[in-house]
Amino acid sequence: MSRKALIAANWKMYKTPAEAKAFVDAFLPLVAGHTRDEIALFPSPVLLPTVIEAAKDSNVAVGAQNIHFAEEGAYTGETSVGQLQAVGGTHTLIGHSERRQYFAETDEIVNKKLHTALKHGVVPIVCVGEVLAEREAGQTAHVLKTQIAGAFVGITAAAAGPIVIAYEPVWAIGTGKTATPEIAVDAHKIIRAEVAKLLGADVAAAIRILYGGSVKPDNATSLLGEEEIDGALVGGASLKPDSFAAIVKY
Ligand code: 13P
Repeated sequence: MSRKALIAANWKMYKTPAEAKAFVDAFLPLVAGHTRDEIALFPSPVLLPTVIEAAKDSNVAVGAQNIHFAEEGAYTGETSVGQLQAVGGTHTLIGHSERRQYFAETDEIVNKKLHTALKHGVVPIVCVGEVLAEREAGQTAHVLKTQIAGAFVGITAAAAGPIVIAYEPVWAIGTGKTATPEIAVDAHKIIRAEVAKLLGADVAAAIRILYGGSVKPDNATSLLGEEEIDGALVGGASLKPDSFAAIVKY
């Protein structure tokens, strides 16, 4: 089963519109003609129109770091899936650990957002991962299974095609501590087995599972060389065109 890798940049709360445009202008020539992998950028909502315009007609997709599960409504500060699509966004992250940690996103909210994204044809990247205390307590498998099962409530095999999962061990995010390829592969296998249990072997074999957590140009090859690892979700090292391009071209 060959799965096309997705290399994604999560810019978090960084960059002004001018900085975002300068990134895209410098980045596109570095990855021009790169078709081996899909490439996507996830900037803050206020940057979306600028980044989408700058990346128009290129091999780089653009998505949101978060959407609300409601189609519209009195939800101050939130972005709807329709608003994302109206400016040309095609993907969204869902349930990033920073959303879970700082904005109280639960598996139930993640599940609602997943349904909303799929209903509207936006590609969802569902983020899961254990915190350090959970790993040290031997709970990693339990946490990953719980997060996947919670996210996938009511999702059918027929609807699951577009879903991407990102395994992001929280202890590896922004810490410079990368999971070893062995640790990442073990976690991906647990996640894939849970998807198989919930949605069947075909969906599990086709679903892409990205690794995220201190991916850098110098560790990208060892991680992305693993058959189980179907791409990367990159934070800090995605903020500079040359370092993100080096990861894309691992
Ligand atoms: P870092 O690459 O900075 O560790 O961030 C990972 C991440 O959270 C991507 O979503």
